[in-house]
Amino acid sequence: MKDPVIQLEGVTKRFWPGPVTAVDDVSLEVREGEIMTLLGPSGCGKTTALRLIAGFEVPDEGRIRLGDREVAGPRAWAPPEKRGVGMVFQDYALFPHLTVGENVMFGLERQSRSERKRRAREVLEILDLKAHFKRYPHELSGGQQQRVALARALAPEPLLVLMDEPFSNLDAHLRDQVRDEVVGILRKAGVTCILVSHDQRDALAISDRVAVMNQGRVEQVGSPREIYKHPESVFVATFVGRTNLLQGRIQNENGCVLTDFGSFCRVDRIGLPNGSDVMVSVRPDGFEQCDTGTLAGTILSTTYTGAQVEAEVAIPSAHGGDRKLVVHLPPSRHYEIGEAVHLRVVPEFASVVRNACQTLGFTSPAAGDAPTPSPDPEEEPHEDEPGGVVSASPAGALARELEEG
Ligand SMILES: Nc1ncnc2c1ncn2[C@@H]1O[C@H](COP(=O)(O)OP(=O)(O)OP(=O)(O)O)[C@@H](O)[C@H]1O
Ligand SMILES: [Mg+2]
Repeated sequence: MKDPVIQLEGVTKRFWPGPVTAVDDVSLEVREGEIMTLLGPSGCGKTTALRLIAGFEVPDEGRIRLGDREVAGPRAWAPPEKRGVGMVFQDYALFPHLTVGENVMFGLERQSRSERKRRAREVLEILDLKAHFKRYPHELSGGQQQRVALARALAPEPLLVLMDEPFSNLDAHLRDQVRDEVVGILRKAGVTCILVSHDQRDALAISDRVAVMNQGRVEQVGSPREIYKHPESVFVATFVGRTNLLQGRIQNENGCVLTDFGSFCRVDRIGLPNGSDVMVSVRPDGFEQCDTGTLAGTILSTTYTGAQVEAEVAIPSAHGGDRKLVVHLPPSRHYEIGEAVHLRVVPEFASVVRNACQTLGFTSPAAGDAPTPSPDPEEEPHEDEPGGVVSASPAGALARELEEG
């Protein structure tokens, strides 16, 4: 495994008056060549975390190590210019009165003028901007300005590059293209990078790992796939894409969670006591339409997005009334409002949200004192997947299963 380039250990930053705890006991590690995204809503502390790493803010508690040096801590402090960190700000912060070349040369003041020029040309060539060496920032497009800002950050060969919302100033059309170009450049150069974003699409598309932040804290760190498929909290489940949260109760006897919609198994990893109230998160992509699907519902509304049809489906609940689920259906056909559909849950897209009970403090009406239905022997749980679904029965079928023992 590669060495960590940056380590945060219990870092807290408060602002006064208030105090506002902008960054709250954050511990993180980013390894050489890794691209990590801090993802979270506005005000959750992303920019403050970057500013702490860059040395523009002093932590109240905790330590920050860069490479093999402690740069912030109870007895350590290195100012920004001594950290070897390149920063790309949200508004690019290019000097308007300097040319592209001069902007890039700005961070290289300790070298001779000819050496600075050579390095600036070299970096601008990598970023496909060499022809613009003598232009001023206002003569460039948003995407080109973005790349100049990146060139300026990369020119001194930093240990780590920090980018704050690097794509938010670009229109939707340019955005994906510039994003892919920038990430391609970072990967080719093997640069270690922490990016900040509030856009889950960007975070999932470009990161090796994502750290999801909420109210100053890191709620979960993992690969895009882990974060999407196995969110550990209600916040992560709902912030990173859409999901359906089903109330359930842990049944440790058979390693399942019982919900209104059936029995969800392979939950032993969550380590909660028997009878704990939890939530099961099922992504909209987690449903498959098939005639043998045990969830029978009615289509309430549909939105065609090109890649899929996003449908709201009403499913009768075991406790009366309907439960509305958001379901992605194949776009190849048209669905009528009121049409009956049969769905089954794909195990990989269902996951127990571990700290749902602490977060929400609800009591599940799902299980009651009812006996636990035995898992459907035809649908084997996936050995490597937590929260795999053994059976997902509609309320009626589930009630019958329960009655029949
Ligand atoms: N210099 C400051 N003085 C006082 N409060 C501050 C200061 N900087 C940030 N804050 C507060 O700290 C919290 C975190 O702010 P921060 O800028 O880190 O959020 P963010 O996640 O980057 O948000 P956004 O996505 O809107 O940029 C906010 O409540 C903000 O108002
Ligand atoms: Mg910010």
